[in-house]
Amino acid sequence: MKWKRTHTCGELTGKQKSQTAILMGWVDRRRDHGGLIFIDLRDRYGVTQIQINPASAAYEEAKKLRNEYVVAFKGIVEGRPEGMTNVKLKTGEIELIANEIEILNTSETPPIPISGDINASEDLRLKYRYLDLRRPDMQKNMFIRHKAAQIVRNYLDENKFLEIETPYLMKSTPEGARDFLVPSRVWKGKFYALPQSPQQYKQLLMVSGYDRYFQIVRCFRDEDLRADRQPEFTQIDMELSFIDEEDIFKIMEGLIARVMKEILGITIPSPIQRIPYKTAMEKYGIDRPDLRFGMEINNISSLVEHCEFNVFSQTVKAGHVVAGICVPGGGKFSRKQIDDLTSWTKEQGAKGLVAIKVKGDDWDSTLDKFFSDEQRKQIVKTCSAQDGDLLLFVADVKKVALPLLGDLRLKIAREQNMIPADTYKLAWVVDFPLFEYSAEEGRWVACHHPFTSPIPADEHKLLTDPEHVTARAYDLVLNGMEIAGGSIRIANAELQAQMFTALGISDQEAQSKFGFLMEAFKYGAPPHGGIAFGFDRMIMILAGCSSIRDVIAFPKTATASSLMDGSPSTVKSEQLLELGLRLYEGI
Ligand code: AMO
Ligand code: AMP
Repeated sequence: MKWKRTHTCGELTGKQKSQTAILMGWVDRRRDHGGLIFIDLRDRYGVTQIQINPASAAYEEAKKLRNEYVVAFKGIVEGRPEGMTNVKLKTGEIELIANEIEILNTSETPPIPISGDINASEDLRLKYRYLDLRRPDMQKNMFIRHKAAQIVRNYLDENKFLEIETPYLMKSTPEGARDFLVPSRVWKGKFYALPQSPQQYKQLLMVSGYDRYFQIVRCFRDEDLRADRQPEFTQIDMELSFIDEEDIFKIMEGLIARVMKEILGITIPSPIQRIPYKTAMEKYGIDRPDLRFGMEINNISSLVEHCEFNVFSQTVKAGHVVAGICVPGGGKFSRKQIDDLTSWTKEQGAKGLVAIKVKGDDWDSTLDKFFSDEQRKQIVKTCSAQDGDLLLFVADVKKVALPLLGDLRLKIAREQNMIPADTYKLAWVVDFPLFEYSAEEGRWVACHHPFTSPIPADEHKLLTDPEHVTARAYDLVLNGMEIAGGSIRIANAELQAQMFTALGISDQEAQSKFGFLMEAFKYGAPPHGGIAFGFDRMIMILAGCSSIRDVIAFPKTATASSLMDGSPSTVKSEQLLELGLRLYEGI
């Protein structure tokens, strides 16, 4: 490198006119115009137009330039001719008239386009991730991620949180997702696990007296992936002592408000609304409701219990529900559209879907004869339906009907473009049940995790009526996505032991998995609680991306592999031997 760069490619404006500048970057585009060569030179700060005329000492070298060559130009900053200003570019007022050039490196034709819109497959982008990350879109995402991390650190520091690192090699205590295991060479036959979250460590830190802890930390979960899940992902993990739910809500609302203000320029409503879990399930069929649009679920069971439509009346008499959604303007749906919705709903497990078009005060449906005028009126009223709307009903057991209608609500909203862009709707979901029954495991499992406290009034029901115990747990939901979750913890060894019993975890198992935590609780554990934000998910929404992979520099594919470095991979037999491991035949 002959020179030092004086400016970035996103910096020069009319203010630097007539100055000498040295820019370095990548060739975004090259155009030859009647002897003149124009280069759009790109770095992460922007693009600057370079002009090389035939009289310039740089001219012959400049002819060799191709896309993505790395190059340095020295020249004079000049205003662009009248009418040639590019208002889309920060540097659009000027161009650099180059009189010297140094080609710093050449480049083969990149396998994915770097400038302009990306039309490469995601597999190709992941294979050449270092090139994908050179694209301005991805650089914008990485910048937002960086900025959000700084805002979070500053805010938490201002609020007296200490950043403390916890181990990545820990004891395997699977609960929820599967652990990633790391074999020990020193202790042959023994394994570390990568933490699913620093949950136990942060609770131990409370016992140690660090009353406000945080960490922007990697978590590892060997679970089936989805669009918003990765096997390794980042949390903003926090734990606090001498607090209750209200303190947590207040501090977290301050955190999310700061991030959204500084990144999006948006002021969020304060306080953030709270929705009990039960209401969320009844109105939205899901515990992470998308509140950007209406179409809530209406339960019409009591109105149809005595109607003559057997599918409905018998369902209600059997103790189940009839519920539905009202699609605004859905009266214009074609026969085919409705048939498609019906088959989709059936594929999801419904027995059928009743579709009724509302016409004036009446129904445009063959089912109208089964309902009295009064019943029809009441149904329309309960669903707040208007002329031209479409009512869709499902009759089933509650656990099937409500989630199904929740999915249908989202599907129709997406297909009908009912979700407004650039809208951010936050809610706390509260009053979760402490347990849910796992048919697969044949036992009650913790909805959140086994350290979550029940509400005091329900403590006595832990062993006798686990189904009806309410947890001191909360989730923060943004645009239908769970971006944070946490709880007030059990800080009492006896209650914790009862919790393990309720979960069907034997004393011996609890001792071997969580003994250190229970032991710690014998030595003065303060009341405490915490929360963790899914940092990647939060950034995904802030950056307006639809995949979590777009906000992670080097993510895994949906099948948990890295197309770039080819991991996971086989290892040499010597490596296995050193660890005292042997693979099963056929694997
Ligand atoms: P939880 O398991 O709810 O809580 O995780 C907290 C948040 O992390 C995000 N998240 C994920 N993001 C990407 N990929 C994944 N596979 C993934 N799994 C979870 C979600 C979620 O809200 N220790 C507790 C927190 C606590 O109680 O303080 C915990 O880990 O946005
Ligand atoms: P059937 O009596 O099975 O012919 O159904 C009459 C209508 O009710 C059809 O449009 C079915 O799709 C619908 N249907 C049947 N079972 C259900 C159900 N459990 N929930 C909603 N609609 C149903």
